[in-house]
Amino acid sequence: MKVVLAGDIAAAEWQVWRAALAAAMPEAALLTPDEARRAPGDVLAAVVANPPPGGLAPFHGLRLIQSLWAGVDRLLADTTLPPGVPIARMVDPAMSAAMAETALWATLALHRGFFAYQRRQRAGEWRQHRQRRAEDVPVLVLGRGEMGGAVAERLRPHGYPVTTWGRDSGPLPPLLAAHEVVINLLPLTDTTRGLLDARFFAAMRAQSALVNLGRGGHVVDADLLAALDAGHLRHAVLDVFHVEPLPAAHRFWTHPSVKMLPHAAALTDHRSASAVVAANLRALRDGKPIAHLIDRGRGY
Ligand code: GLV
Repeated sequence: MKVVLAGDIAAAEWQVWRAALAAAMPEAALLTPDEARRAPGDVLAAVVANPPPGGLAPFHGLRLIQSLWAGVDRLLADTTLPPGVPIARMVDPAMSAAMAETALWATLALHRGFFAYQRRQRAGEWRQHRQRRAEDVPVLVLGRGEMGGAVAERLRPHGYPVTTWGRDSGPLPPLLAAHEVVINLLPLTDTTRGLLDARFFAAMRAQSALVNLGRGGHVVDADLLAALDAGHLRHAVLDVFHVEPLPAAHRFWTHPSVKMLPHAAALTDHRSASAVVAANLRALRDGKPIAHLIDRGRGY
């Protein structure tokens, strides 16, 4: 089976992917876009990581687009994507575990005030604050999918009361008012874009914190900065941004109440993700059901 590997990934990283995929599926011919364009009609599947718009258009015989990314928002924004070709997103247990670790780190740091201790160290200040119990720090997880579920399951044994919210869960403002840490893991779709805006932040409890592990497009940056500047929100831990890398002049870089990660909360794990891809390519070859197909209309 001919498979094209396409996307916005450095050449060295593609070598790692190619080796991992070849090990997981020795029977597949893994081609670069240049190689694949020599006989574009023979390519049956595309394994992609945010391919450039139009990148898949030449491959008119495609029967599966397999994303290496969990979020397919950038893929779906490509208006030239061949219509009707099934798209599978990445559901990688190792990646979900990494996401749960990041959420746990952020929640622990917010709950115990470790970010404040870091600031005091830099200021040469020796001062303790009140120590609180995890059971007194309610956490709201936005998103009930693979990631949201993994995060909730990881936090609960640590004593945090966790509520999860999805788009069918009813009104959000009362929940925002009742929780101290809000962790966003929603998919980015037309209905969730800009959801975290001034109204959302106003509904959050005073002195609460946002942890955004979803997409930058969920947040209205100016509204978040206003809520932090006003002291209504105590902290924001941000992994994802409208433009990545985040431009040097953006206020998030230096804001004292912002902790940033470079879209590193959960990277796709080459080994386990390659096994997921191989299983789907074999299912395609054997006419079996493909796992983790997305609904293009719904957007995830
Ligand atoms: C990362 O953000 C992903 O969607 O895999």
